Amino acid sequence: MLPEGGIELTLYDLVAPGLDLSGDPRYRIAEIRAADPLGADALLAALPAMNAAADVPALTVALRTLVPDPDRVASLGIVDALAAMRDLGIVLGSLKRHGREPVAAVPEVLPVLEELGRRTDMIPRDTVHHYTTWNPTGKRQRMYLGDPMEGNLQDAVRMVFPSLVAALDSCAELARLEPYDPGFPLALDRTAVHVQSMVDSIDFTVAHVSPVFFAQQMRAYFEEIDVAGTDYLGPAAAQVPLWLVDLTVWQSDRSNDRYDAFLEGSVQYSLPSWRAHYAAHKGGTSAVSKLSAALSWEGARRVPRRLADSAVSLARVLRILKTFRARHLTIARKAYREDVRLYEVGSGGAPVELLRAVLDLTRDNETLVRRSAERPPAPAA
Ligand code: HEM
Repeated sequence: MLPEGGIELTLYDLVAPGLDLSGDPRYRIAEIRAADPLGADALLAALPAMNAAADVPALTVALRTLVPDPDRVASLGIVDALAAMRDLGIVLGSLKRHGREPVAAVPEVLPVLEELGRRTDMIPRDTVHHYTTWNPTGKRQRMYLGDPMEGNLQDAVRMVFPSLVAALDSCAELARLEPYDPGFPLALDRTAVHVQSMVDSIDFTVAHVSPVFFAQQMRAYFEEIDVAGTDYLGPAAAQVPLWLVDLTVWQSDRSNDRYDAFLEGSVQYSLPSWRAHYAAHKGGTSAVSKLSAALSWEGARRVPRRLADSAVSLARVLRILKTFRARHLTIARKAYREDVRLYEVGSGGAPVELLRAVLDLTRDNETLVRRSAERPPAPAA
């Protein structure tokens, strides 16, 4: 049972001990949620009614009313700039849903989107983080439709954000270690705890969001919009950065062109520190490759205990990733069945087959590591 008004989490509730998040204003979740720099609360409360009526003139006036003047934009700190992008963004997606390119409909929004993107060091439109983590809960919650299932979808994403931030830290640590280090399985065990939130999230989604509702009512709000000649995808869950975990665990050197291309396109929708993490580890040696190399080096000898512990912990993380992806694929298939769907590809720009391909990669890596974890370890000294 959810608390009244949805899940109210701050990062500080859940992050790993010792992780210093205080420096990045993007993690000041409670402040961003509370901020209303454009005075948009009343207007956005009426947004679901405008969308239900497909009232394009009202949506156009709403966007024009919210656009701040350049002096106001220049005075916004990062917290307010993120909140301002969130509030403009939900109207952008609404206009697009009803067939209007929002920047063409309200051209004065263009310099504002560009400046907010620059100030926050993010793309010049809203992302899944604006729509979920940075979105207030309760009466001020910004929604396209106002349907409880939309709220559930937003909560499903809200519940994974703190854990993925914490996983960034444990995965970066993993990249610095070798499978013989005692810290290697510990970093993996911390990662396993964090990534379990993805399984909880998809179970919550399966229980509380109907695939038909997603396909026929929500999906259309996540279409891409044109900002100065570049298409930017809408704030969909496909931008949830599970790749932060994949990257150093297996993806950096055991992926395929398809998933690589999807990630290349997805990374721009994430936070600056996450993009830096991607740049730092892309093409590096993954934990799975390090473990495989160590095991080959051991040859037919009995596996040293530390290496065996690393294999068990690595297999556990991969199994959790696999479980998320298998359950997620099931709901995605239901939403993109021919007789249900309105769009052939997901709101992240990729078809359901991509999910199958990524699941296969995850499963192949898990099988490889699980088999090595089954090799008998050397007796304790
Ligand atoms: C009704 C619910 C959902 C449907 C129908 C759905 C569907 C899809 C589809 C079709 C894709 C392929 C990429 C694209 O969209 O272009 C995708 C990707 C993805 N989705 Fe979802 N999704 C749903 C909910 C969720 C939730 C709640 C989460 C996480 C909290 C999530 C996380 C992801 C991730 C991480 C990817 C990237 C691929 C991967 O890492 O496996 N999705 N989703």
